Amino acid sequence: MACTVLIGAQWGDEGKGKIIDVLTENVDMVVRYQGGNNAGHTVEIADERYVLHLVPSGIFRKETICVIGNGVVIDPIALLTEITELTGRGLTVNGRLFISDRAHAVFPYHLALDASKERERGQKDGTKIGTTQRGIGPTYGDKIMRTGLRMSDMVATDFAARLTARLDEHNRMCVATGAEPLKTDSILPRYLDAAKTLKPFVADTISMLNKAVNAGKSMLFEGAQGTMLDIDFGTYPFVTSSNASAGGACTGTGVPPQRVDRVVGVIKAYTTRVGEGPFPTELKDETGEKIRAKGREFGATTGRPRRCGWFDAVVARYSAMINGVDYWAMTKLDVLDEMKTLKVCIGYECDGKSMDTVPASIDQLSRCKPVYREFEGWMTPTTDVTRFEDLPDKARAYVDELCKLTGVQLGILSVGPRRANTLRIAL
Ligand code: GDP
Ligand code: IMO
Ligand code: MG
Repeated sequence: MACTVLIGAQWGDEGKGKIIDVLTENVDMVVRYQGGNNAGHTVEIADERYVLHLVPSGIFRKETICVIGNGVVIDPIALLTEITELTGRGLTVNGRLFISDRAHAVFPYHLALDASKERERGQKDGTKIGTTQRGIGPTYGDKIMRTGLRMSDMVATDFAARLTARLDEHNRMCVATGAEPLKTDSILPRYLDAAKTLKPFVADTISMLNKAVNAGKSMLFEGAQGTMLDIDFGTYPFVTSSNASAGGACTGTGVPPQRVDRVVGVIKAYTTRVGEGPFPTELKDETGEKIRAKGREFGATTGRPRRCGWFDAVVARYSAMINGVDYWAMTKLDVLDEMKTLKVCIGYECDGKSMDTVPASIDQLSRCKPVYREFEGWMTPTTDVTRFEDLPDKARAYVDELCKLTGVQLGILSVGPRRANTLRIAL
């Protein structure tokens, strides 16, 4: 299957985990390239439901090697919890999971800063981001400030001294600002233990991946979050702190761009968003609630209700452009089975002008009014359909139109959470 980058084309939770699991059938390695345990990727296999936060979604295929790349930020305790859970459910992780020695680690002071920053923002109207409180922003902040600790520091002999220095610095700041300092004595042994347990997984994944790609191995780069949450291309500042878009796959793994053969964009047949920030097609009414209930739209990481709305072709086109999407893997069509009519946003109207792309200014985006095209619903269950030709005509017309509006061909259509609910069209 060569090298494929898989990204979320909207605001996350598009069903990336499910599609990665399906595509892994034909792939040697699956590599996470950014984000951290803010991600929640669900994979349903028979009656089992797994939610992965850091471990790549290729872990369910025995032969597949899984790599957490240098662009990911790793909470060591969260990763160990996840490994323990997976092992407890009968999966083998040893010898199949590798962690980049260049990946930055999340520590308790990052979690504390994420929480306090959100509290502070919460007191000012309209500035709270609604983060997952997993310390993601502060950890990437440390990386950019060149003050972070990486997995290579965690496995170094003087890790205790390096972490103590960072904790002391944090606590000095707490004292200066009147915040509660962290208890170094209880933190240190836990993280030293974690470092010891994680050591066998830590590797020079950059050399490993390049050797594998040069030897003709196939790879799937697993994006987390979505393009509209990308630090550069998303609805800044209501975004995450990494490059969730396709470009992140190279910087987050060390595999050069010429090695990437294609980009698959995972996109829902409607739109959702968790957390704060503008969302032009949001439905704050019964229709939005109906989608939330049928689509089980509650965060896989935090359990928060997801905001729901119509498909936004402006966002999808923008996403296709930035990521160079070759194929859509369109998910959750079945969620729309009981809608009498459907709407698709084909453009925006803002301050009396038409717009066909996403503006940089979130104030302007907040003023954008969607221009809708209406579709008749198919009012027929689609979950058991196994061939695209067997879908109701109106469902096919809806999907075809979304592809036409966005200029991207359909690779996969997903009509349910399980492996079997997948129509493979061109992938
Ligand atoms: P991710 O973060 O992109 O991996 O997506 P999440 O796992 O956070 O959310 C997607 C949710 O939709 C999960 O509960 C999946 O099991 C579920 N899902 C994926 N594809 C489909 C689909 O085609 N139909 C339905 N009904 N559910 C789906
Ligand atoms: P997956 O990979 C949906 C959102 C948060 C918040 C913003 C910043 O499962 O699609 P952060 O904790 O990253 O600093 O939060 O980003 N967010 C996600 N929304 N899916 C995700 O991941 C997300 N990861 C972060 O809700 O609005
Ligand atoms: Mg998710």
